[in-house]
Amino acid sequence: MKILVTGGCGYIGSHTCVELLESGYEVVIVDNLSNSKEDVIDKIKTITGKKVKLYKEDVCNYTAMDKIFEKEKVDAVIHFAGYKAVGESVSKPLMYYRNNLDSTLTLLEVMTKHNCKKIAFSSSATVYGKPKKLPILEDFPLSTTNPYGPTKLMIEMILKDLYTSDNEWSIAILRYFNPIGAHKSGLLGEDPNGIPNNLMPYIVKVANKELKELSIFGNDYNTKDGTGVRDYIHVVDLAKGHIKAIEKVMKDKGVDTYNLGTGKGYSVLEIVNTFQKVNNVKVPYKIVDRRPGDIDACYASTKKAKELLNWKAELEIDEMCKDSYNFVKKNK
Ligand code: NAD
Ligand code: UFG
Repeated sequence: MKILVTGGCGYIGSHTCVELLESGYEVVIVDNLSNSKEDVIDKIKTITGKKVKLYKEDVCNYTAMDKIFEKEKVDAVIHFAGYKAVGESVSKPLMYYRNNLDSTLTLLEVMTKHNCKKIAFSSSATVYGKPKKLPILEDFPLSTTNPYGPTKLMIEMILKDLYTSDNEWSIAILRYFNPIGAHKSGLLGEDPNGIPNNLMPYIVKVANKELKELSIFGNDYNTKDGTGVRDYIHVVDLAKGHIKAIEKVMKDKGVDTYNLGTGKGYSVLEIVNTFQKVNNVKVPYKIVDRRPGDIDACYASTKKAKELLNWKAELEIDEMCKDSYNFVKKNK
């Protein structure tokens, strides 16, 4: 079975390629390396002992994608390629709409042409906006607060309309909560350019003394200790969720949406304290004002993924904190 992985050199994509290869799938990656490095391919090979083919192409390039599908005879696609930085999407909305929508439309047109109608798509918990209740169920109302959000929401709508027009499609929309952690080997992980926006990449840089201290954005939220609560999921668990999603799309036709989270919420302070304890390292921090747009708390209902995909996250927060730091120490 051959799976084409767009954005397979990126953070979640690379971990998913490892899990796919270890589950016996053949893997072909299309990535333009706009937010990743080619050496990921060697690292995937070192971990799995198996080869993966990389096409250094833009998914928005119809001609290139058409040729790849002609040559590779792909069975199903996992579509990770896209831009994901919330702050950048506010300053460069057109770049976000262009890349995220164009890549998806081009991919779906090429897949239609080649009669490959099975896809798992990376959506995000960002589509729930400010949830009125917790845990978040897949049928909760959707809304967004920055240009990145509507790119995900629009793609979800496109996928649903596509299925309505042609019931041969089999589509899994996967809404990720907050992926952190790294591969145990320390070879794959998250390595953002510049000063990180997300919590865990920032914490590891402070622990590593690359940044002076963490700013905790507010301690007056309506949560257990006043700091923001999120559903952090180990990237390897998330990657395994994709294997289950692919098994599902290979088996059943239809379009369905699944939360991929742990169902547990941890506060910023809990994350900082756990990180310090399990890694035996100091993370100096100060409390500052809230970050505009942030919500109090967000965590998933995991019931649907458990029932329909037969998947649940296994790794605990200790593991997530250890593996995140291990990756950064090994790649200093
Ligand atoms: P990432 O930036 O590490 O990986 C994305 C990959 O896609 C990169 O390797 C990049 O080079 C590639 N890419 C981007 N545009 C492309 C294009 N037009 N053609 C070919 N390659 C292209 O991001 P990630 O964290 O691995 O996220 C993967 C997907 O999951 C994204 O769609 C993201 O929006 C979504 N997601 C991520 C998170 C998160 O917190 N990391 C949360 C929810 C959803
Ligand atoms: N935080 C800090 N200091 C920092 C960074 C973050 O206190 O330097 C806090 C935030 O206020 C929040 C929590 O840590 O309470 C998590 O923040 P992140 O930026 O790591 O993650 P978000 O939940 O804000 O958003 C992320 C992605 C979104 C995605 C969402 C759900 O950036 O794209 O998870 O998947 F939609």
